[in-house]
Amino acid sequence: MKYKKFEDHIVVIMETGENIHEGLTEVCLKEDIGHGSVMGIGGTKYLRLGIWDRFENCYKYIEKDQGSMEILSLMGNISRLDGKPNLHLHVTASDDSFNSFGGHLDKGIVQNMVEVYIRPHADKIDRVPYQYWFFMDI
Ligand SMILES: [Fe+2]
Repeated sequence: MKYKKFEDHIVVIMETGENIHEGLTEVCLKEDIGHGSVMGIGGTKYLRLGIWDRFENCYKYIEKDQGSMEILSLMGNISRLDGKPNLHLHVTASDDSFNSFGGHLDKGIVQNMVEVYIRPHADKIDRVPYQYWFFMDI
């Protein structure tokens, strides 16, 4: 993972085998980002995606481990949970038959590269327990 700061955003480049959450969390820690927005594209070889089951009040997960997938859209936000950076990310990806799918990104491993723009915001937002979730405390 490498990154570069620009006037109002940070460009992050991750390479094959890197964990998307871990790479972005490292940037947030180094740059003390407690609130921000995330946008990215790239390639992935493994995704663990979640969807909230409103009847059982828990996440249901699937794994996509096909070797070649395009991240068509990676987006989300940055807040803090227990004083640490918390990345809430969603992803839409396509497989090698050009079929797309998506969900809450629980884990993603880079294939080739992933390019991410982080736009830090001035203040910090904490997440606090609310029902089954941790909501942004605004
Ligand atoms: Fe989500």
